[in-house]
Amino acid sequence: MTKILVTGAGGQLGSQLLGRGDSAGFDLVGLTSAELDITDAEAVGDAVEPGAVVLNCAAYTAVDAAESDEQTAHRVNVDGARNLARACARRGARLIHVSTDYVFAGDASVPYEPDAPTGPRTAYGRTKLAGERVVLEDDPSAVVVRTAWVYTGAGSDFVATMLRLQRERDTVDVVDDQIGSPTYAGDLAAGLLELAGREDVPGGVLHATNSGQASWFELARAVFSGVGADAARVHACSSAQFPRPAPRPAYSVLSPAAWAAAGLTPLRPWRVALEAALAGLPPVCD
Ligand SMILES: NC(=O)c1ccc[n+]([C@@H]2O[C@H](COP(=O)([O-])OP(=O)(O)OC[C@H]3O[C@@H](n4cnc5c(N)ncnc54)[C@H](OP(=O)(O)O)[C@@H]3O)[C@@H](O)[C@H]2O)c1
Repeated sequence: MTKILVTGAGGQLGSQLLGRGDSAGFDLVGLTSAELDITDAEAVGDAVEPGAVVLNCAAYTAVDAAESDEQTAHRVNVDGARNLARACARRGARLIHVSTDYVFAGDASVPYEPDAPTGPRTAYGRTKLAGERVVLEDDPSAVVVRTAWVYTGAGSDFVATMLRLQRERDTVDVVDDQIGSPTYAGDLAAGLLELAGREDVPGGVLHATNSGQASWFELARAVFSGVGADAARVHACSSAQFPRPAPRPAYSVLSPAAWAAAGLTPLRPWRVALEAALAGLPPVCD
């Protein structure tokens, strides 16, 4: 049975992966940031076993905070990623490294292919792009999987926030000028496990999101409808009304073509995935 080591196992994606390991027939071991700090090269070297697959979900993901603390983001997203790539190359383990749409400028009008020119506009995006590069330099057999707009519907992600605001407020203003592909973390986890089992996929960059596209406003309306609330309570507004330290990409749609060409199962349409995600959440008692 192939062993899979999940780093950053306490995070949104890491925890979804751990919940799916048994059914996928892998021996899945998750290490949280407290159990394995990926910036500790020696600890990383000790944790990576020959023949294993390492699924790196550990990252500095505080997009706004990174603007004033790029050094910390760099330490995790670049130095940490390098530690994993070097350990995997040295030990004959296979690295799957998760990255982001923020490596792009977000000014396109057609879906980004993996080899499209990058141009991050944020500190977070710069560190994630640098992380991709060190991973592929130090371990050319590694697969970098970029994703976007990930949610579980629990915790404090966008879908969870909309579910909370639906209960707390009469109306909600949500930006309508940022377009992306909402991605259920459970579907992404299943896709990553499929990739983990496919040793024939060569090193390089792939994109994985639920298919289709939406604005945050459209996603918010779909969340309201999905729980039987009146979607008209969600009002559209522009990004200019919600200035943030890190500018958000206007267009973040990632093309699934390379993923499908590698023989991997395309992730389902985002509305279908959202419905499934909402159905899987515990009922809310008002
Ligand atoms: N969420 C999205 O919308 C989205 C979109 C595109 C790409 N991604 C990418 O998807 C991946 C997973 O993100 P996520 O959504 O699961 O984020 P997340 O919930 O913030 O999880 C990241 C995890 O990394 C851990 N971590 C931070 N520094 C670490 C270190 N030095 N060593 C080990 N672990 C460390 C964090 O632990 P602590 O909490 O203890 O610090 C956390 O558990 C990341 O590569 C991210 O860039 C996410």
